Amino acid sequence: MKIVIDSANVDTIKKLIDYYPIDGVTTNPSIIVKEKRPFLPLLKEIRSIIGDERMLHVQVLSSTATEMVEEAINNREQLGGNYYTKIPVTREGIKAIKELKLKGIKVLATTIYTPMQAIVAAKAGANYVAPYVNRIENLSGNGIQVVEEIRTMFDQYNLSCKILAASFKNVRQVQGVCLAGAHAITAGGDIIESLLNHPSTQGDVEQFQEDWKSFYREE
Ligand code: G3P
Repeated sequence: MKIVIDSANVDTIKKLIDYYPIDGVTTNPSIIVKEKRPFLPLLKEIRSIIGDERMLHVQVLSSTATEMVEEAINNREQLGGNYYTKIPVTREGIKAIKELKLKGIKVLATTIYTPMQAIVAAKAGANYVAPYVNRIENLSGNGIQVVEEIRTMFDQYNLSCKILAASFKNVRQVQGVCLAGAHAITAGGDIIESLLNHPSTQGDVEQFQEDWKSFYREE
């Protein structure tokens, strides 16, 4: 089970890496634009913060397979380490995934809303698929069920592709995809910080300290 940060904010990434068992960072064009910084220097800084072993997922911006492949090769050269190209599951995207597989470049197939999109991407050679749980629920679908069905199909057909569930609004959705068999989740800093939340935990810790001090403070 992997926990990945869905953010390009270097302060958020530094803080989460310091405290939590983080396996990598995912980005997309909308996330990167929020930082209002030049693209490659920002990603290089993220790489230096997370080190070479953690995954760094960077989405292509082109719309043709040929250009997507060129972009992926260039980004991998620039960023190095455990690098994944994020490719949307358009028709051109699937063609690009097949070519990247042949070139040995790892792929996260993204913008997944249905199990069939996931199957096609997995067969094309994607290493991960990213079902968009909350965006599916915004369309009145069941994002957790989509993850469960993808997992059932991957197991049934013995596909090695893994599920990196994405797009979360709350911890209930994250827990749901963990139960449904997601291999990894990617979420923003606020959601990752919320994974530990339970009102009783802080209360228990305070009570332990009170009890301890009530005797040992005098000693
Ligand atoms: O990684 C995909 C993700 O960034 C989409 O999340 O919260 O914008 O639906 P969201």
